[in-house]
Amino acid sequence: MKTILITGGAGFIGSHVVDLFVEKYPNYQIVNLDALTYAGNLENLKHVAEKSNYIFEKEDITNVDAINRLFAKYQFDGVIHLAAESHVDRSILDPLSFVKTNVLGTVNLLHAAKESWKSSFEGKRFYHISTDEVYGSLSCEGKFKETTSYDPRSPYSASKASSDHFVRAFYHTFHLPIVVSNCSNNYGARQFPEKLIPLAINNIKYNKPIPIYGKGANVRDWLYVKDHASAIDLIFHQGSDGETYNIGGNNEWTNIDLIRLLCEIMDKKLGRSAGTSARLITFITDRAGHDLRYAIDSSKLQQELGWKPSLQFAEGLEKTVEWYLDNEVWMTNITTGAYQQYYEKLYKLN
Ligand code: NAD
Ligand code: TYD
Repeated sequence: MKTILITGGAGFIGSHVVDLFVEKYPNYQIVNLDALTYAGNLENLKHVAEKSNYIFEKEDITNVDAINRLFAKYQFDGVIHLAAESHVDRSILDPLSFVKTNVLGTVNLLHAAKESWKSSFEGKRFYHISTDEVYGSLSCEGKFKETTSYDPRSPYSASKASSDHFVRAFYHTFHLPIVVSNCSNNYGARQFPEKLIPLAINNIKYNKPIPIYGKGANVRDWLYVKDHASAIDLIFHQGSDGETYNIGGNNEWTNIDLIRLLCEIMDKKLGRSAGTSARLITFITDRAGHDLRYAIDSSKLQQELGWKPSLQFAEGLEKTVEWYLDNEVWMTNITTGAYQQYYEKLYKLN
């Protein structure tokens, strides 16, 4: 029996990681710690809520006393740390909250793990989930490797880069057994509709403009969220201490091409004539500091641990659209109230 702390398990990626671990490892006790910010949603966990090997703790990772208390209470064997402020546009509106959660929260967890495990680090692991955005912006050529220098350019990526540095500092200074992965853009069920794909699906459904920054020429490397979860499972169990693994879909799309494909899928699913959804595409003032291109070289993970993505993009996108159309209540519940104010504030700027 192992007890694993997963932070941020009520969010998009975290909920898929919790699902996978609770189902696949009945001999693990999974403790999901989440502050339930705007991005955290217990509805995301309804499949596992009643499972005997699953516990939920509503807590903030920046709360020093609470985190120390939970480490003492559960005697965790491992940590998979996903809790974060995760949206670039929000980091432009409010950088300090990103420093607080992503930097201070991560250091608080590292310190608690170090103190709790100080008699022996044997069999322990602190796994930090990070992003490819720490590497900065690519031109048309090349891909991010694990050895690429950090060059974060948004408050979000700067806060994640800082947290990555602290994780590695705890390895080098204190020998805390850590592992880090940096992943490309995820898509799939349960992503908060501030991010491009669920925002566009929701807007298309209600015939609202699809806001595209600049000319839509920015490139992202999209990975199906369950493929990220399977990589996390593999790295947690088979990765080496102190190592970094890049995770990516080898699936680059300009935003405009992605949105055109999404529009075609939406037209079919909603029984609209071809071209209807694409008429909603609206080019707006570019995001400040908008990184041009991200692309991940995941050959280390593929060669050393045998991971590969399972889905082609068109298939994954179709499954994703189906999920959002089948889960109207989920979307309605989170797009009323505070979401409206956020939306007005951000998109009215244009
Ligand atoms: P998300 O915003 O959907 O979820 C974040 C979760 O963290 C929410 O449940 C929220 O309630 C919780 N949280 C936020 N602040 C907290 C705090 N102070 N204390 C405790 N819980 C808190 O994010 P996501 O997209 O699922 O991303 C998860 C992780 O993966 C993040 O670390 C992110 O940087 C990383 N990542 C995301 C992507 C992506 O495409 N979404 C890609 C690569 C890496
Ligand atoms: P996003 O989903 O916010 O992820 P990230 O910024 O972390 O890559 O955005 C994906 C891409 O889509 C990015 O280039 C910004 C762009 N985008 C738009 O054009 N319009 C939007 O309304 C949003 C949210 C994003």
